[in-house]
Amino acid sequence: MKQTIGFTLSVLAAVILLAAFYSGPASGAAAPAKLDGKQIFLAQKCNLCHTVSSAGIERTMR
Ligand code: HEC
Repeated sequence: MKQTIGFTLSVLAAVILLAAFYSGPASGAAAPAKLDGKQIFLAQKCNLCHTVSSAGIERTMR
């Protein structure tokens, strides 16, 4: 029984830590400009080969 409680507590602690970690950057001041999939896509040059018509992205290489 004791072990079960310990396990439950560690799982809870992990969940809380993860929640803090993931909610931090979104609301914190240290966060970079809000990540935008289109910007990332263009920054990674995915549009060299891929067209995403729904996002208005035309591929640049023909
Ligand atoms: C040099 C050209 C090129 C670049 C740059 C490129 N891709 Fe691709 N990508 C391809 C090709 C060619 C395929 C198809 C491969 C296949 O079907 O075997 C593909 C397939 C894919 C697929 C799978 C699509 C499907 O229907 O299965 C995804 C997702 C994808 N690319 C995302 C990206 C992302 C995200 C980037 C930017 C980080 C990127 N690609 C950059 C050429 C490229």
